[in-house]
Amino acid sequence: MSKFKRSLVTTALPYANGPVHIGHLAGVYIPADIYVRYLRAKGADVLFIGGSDEHGVPITIKAQKEGVTPQDIVDRYHKLIKESFKAFGISFDIYSRTSSATHYELASGFFRKLYDEGKFIEKTSLQFYDEKAGQFLADRYITGKCPHCGNEKAYGDQCEACGTSLNATDLINPVSAITGNTPQLKETKHWYLPLDQYEAWLKEWILEEHKEWKSNVYGQCKSWLDSGLQPRAVTRDLDWGVPVPLDEAKGKVLYVWFDAPIGYISATKELTPNWEKYWKDKETRLLHFIGKDNIVFHCIIFPAMLKAEGSYILPDNVPANEFLNLEGDKISTSRNWAVWLHEYLEDFKGKQDVLRYVLTANAPETKDNDFTWKDFQTRNNSELVAIYGNFVNRALVLTHKHCGGVVPERGALTDYDREVLAEIPEIIGRVEKNTETFHFREALKECMNLARLGNKYLADTEPWKLIKTDPGRVKTILNICLQIVADLTALTEPFMPFSAARLREFLNMEPLAWGRMGDAVLPAGHRINESCLLFEKIEDEEIQRQMDKLLATKKENESAAETVPPAKTNISFDEFQKMDIRIGTILTAENIAKTQKLMKLTIDTGIDKRTVVSGIAEYYTPEEVIGKQVSILINLEPKTLRGIVSQGMILMAAEPDGSLSFVSPEKTVKPGSEVR
Ligand code: 2FM
Ligand code: ZN
Repeated sequence: MSKFKRSLVTTALPYANGPVHIGHLAGVYIPADIYVRYLRAKGADVLFIGGSDEHGVPITIKAQKEGVTPQDIVDRYHKLIKESFKAFGISFDIYSRTSSATHYELASGFFRKLYDEGKFIEKTSLQFYDEKAGQFLADRYITGKCPHCGNEKAYGDQCEACGTSLNATDLINPVSAITGNTPQLKETKHWYLPLDQYEAWLKEWILEEHKEWKSNVYGQCKSWLDSGLQPRAVTRDLDWGVPVPLDEAKGKVLYVWFDAPIGYISATKELTPNWEKYWKDKETRLLHFIGKDNIVFHCIIFPAMLKAEGSYILPDNVPANEFLNLEGDKISTSRNWAVWLHEYLEDFKGKQDVLRYVLTANAPETKDNDFTWKDFQTRNNSELVAIYGNFVNRALVLTHKHCGGVVPERGALTDYDREVLAEIPEIIGRVEKNTETFHFREALKECMNLARLGNKYLADTEPWKLIKTDPGRVKTILNICLQIVADLTALTEPFMPFSAARLREFLNMEPLAWGRMGDAVLPAGHRINESCLLFEKIEDEEIQRQMDKLLATKKENESAAETVPPAKTNISFDEFQKMDIRIGTILTAENIAKTQKLMKLTIDTGIDKRTVVSGIAEYYTPEEVIGKQVSILINLEPKTLRGIVSQGMILMAAEPDGSLSFVSPEKTVKPGSEVR
């Protein structure tokens, strides 16, 4: 840290198109907040930057779905997200937004400078255009059939059914999500950052000069760099975003991943007139806290942008976390599989620190981790209540009981006292070392070790027994306990700021600077306040309520997965008339050996008696179907199935769960009657 005079800590700007959840907190905001609070406690010069990412296609899609403007969406969620972070004590110096005027100006200026200096390449390519909507379509606005798995609802950038990443032109029968029309390919011009030109520099800068980056971050960078970088478009055809500041670029905006990281700079500029000191002086240490899905943008693309611009510093480290899952399943906004922060705040009033604790103790620092409500309860009851809360409570209650609420004098120390006191700086040292290297789980464990030390000391010395025989000794013991409690207020503050503040209130003390922790923090004679329990037990019923909520979500998702497929594109009457659908009567039926689904039917179509192979054997027995009247497409090309020529197709009503039933006339009709 020594070569730096100050720190600038940024956190990924969450998209303002939904509320924030425990995954956000665990992956990015709590670790960053711990780090910043720690630096502040040490008296460092640090700024903590956050804000909402208010551009990008998902925001416009959400607005369209709800029939409101994108501005309505971002206003709603920016407010909610900002409040949630505040309630959880994420101590930003500023929480801004990328729709701010400062940001528009700065992001445009950034682009313009690179453009003027010839840092971009221009390319014309073919992209889907919706004539009816009069606009080019972003990949997410195009749906069609996946060429890999046949999913009819694949997006232009990805098929969510099989996970394949796609180009919009790969889709079979692409359709515009705006109008339902078939889009046409049309030429469009965009500006690209030639990342290939920065490859050699990035390799040197990351792979050689930043070997200390976390292995997940370093590894991801290495694999990107090893597979070779390509020019990347930094503009889009869209009407929501920062307009491209060029006359020839009407209707185009900066790509959201170009403007969003510039948002860190804009927010700093909004915060302080001294912003350049934080962004342009090599003695500033820039740190980006992010989730693993953002690594390439913060380690490769944004640094290449900064390098191209030339006047800014580069990140010194990018401590990215892996993902947090929920009860064994990936957290998902669209499936509502999450613990939303605004809901937690309602359900667990005043228990922000419990969640901060659990998410840190179980942080996905090196691998994806799972959040479970059972673990949440256990960590609260067996760690916060039974260790930390218990020690503090005993020390304070005994002080009130035996010393009238006043810090007692310390008498002669025993060897054991000295041993315990000597352990305090050791623990503080380990918390420091782990915090400075972004090992917050370990750091938190060490904080708890200080409470454990206090508990053990009390259990070993048993002041409640000694009070009758040796009240002087009890005073010494309680003095030592109170010093440990006072140290805990400072040591745990970065992790659990709300309980640290309450504890200070119990002790009637001012915030303790990091460097002042030690074995004689509270003077003898200092009066402490009345106290109550620092943490409360969480009962099974509360946990069950949360589990029930998740179960209800799971059920909703399961039935949503069974919703009817969307309408297909329109066809002309002529096209419809080409289909010759008749009512036929099933004359004979037999299951086809060695198949589960197929049945061989003879059908009287009124025109002829023909053989049809149909996949109904899972739903009907041959006996059941003989004599039934069914709808049959008779002019479908014959097809050989299991060596049998099938002449036509029986029409079936297919339910969302896949079950089939015949489409039959209401009353018996003459075979050969047309269905039209
Ligand atoms: O992944 C996301 O949620 C992005 N909105 C993060 C942007 S980080 C920064 F570049 F603004
Ligand atoms: Zn697919």
